Amino acid sequence: MAGRFYFMNIQVIIPAAGSGKRFGGKKQFLSLWDKPVLLHSLECFEKSSQVTGVIVVTSEDEIDLVQTLIQRSGLKKVHAVIPGGKERQDSVRLGFYQAPLCDMVLVHDAARPFVSLEMIDRLVQGVQEVGAAVVGIPVKDTLKNVAGGLVKETVDRNPLWSIQTPQAIRYDIFKKAVELSQKENFLGTDESMLVEKAGFPVKIVMGSAYNFKITTPEDLAIAEALKGVLCTR
Ligand code: CTP
Ligand code: MG
Repeated sequence: MAGRFYFMNIQVIIPAAGSGKRFGGKKQFLSLWDKPVLLHSLECFEKSSQVTGVIVVTSEDEIDLVQTLIQRSGLKKVHAVIPGGKERQDSVRLGFYQAPLCDMVLVHDAARPFVSLEMIDRLVQGVQEVGAAVVGIPVKDTLKNVAGGLVKETVDRNPLWSIQTPQAIRYDIFKKAVELSQKENFLGTDESMLVEKAGFPVKIVMGSAYNFKITTPEDLAIAEALKGVLCTR
């Protein structure tokens, strides 16, 4: 494929400016396998030959801490650590404004330590095919519509996927999606919602059950227990 020889500039935005209400603290800085949660994904992007640069978005109070962590770990690709916003979408938008003009932007939650090189490769391929791609996994549980503590109906889970990050989007599409969401005051729960709203297709590529988001303390305990099971890096 001719595209293989074309150097792509791929920038990664890491939203890490949340306060971790459900966890009860800023989980992105807690220790997992002897290093902060945030560093796990940063190391994966550092290793990926696809990725050119990384922007970390964090709260004003943690900028110094993040810069110190990055220097100590010898990460070379992080070129900006900037303050975030009120909602995750605000933090991502501020990160996007900081990104240089490039081919593609990936957004990845700081709270998902187990992203893999394979997922990044699948996303890049997906963006080359349709312009935007997200990782997800098919839903395993039975799903029900519930109201007032009673089951209203069972939902057909066949077409349903749980969506994770990274989410990867061509730069020009990302720009249009961000502009539209600003203009219409639209708040989505992930980047692909903005892309869908702007009328562009989004491809789903396979994620991993291991790529879960640390949301509550149980999730950190599960992540700790995966030491020895996952040896991705
Ligand atoms: N995030 C962010 N800016 C915000 C809110 C969230 O950069 N204003 C980041 C979080 O730091 C996290 C990712 O977005 O890496 C996913 O968000 P989530 O898991 O919801 O983290 P929190 O918002 O911190 O947690 P909670 O919703 O429980 O408060
Ligand atoms: Mg949140």
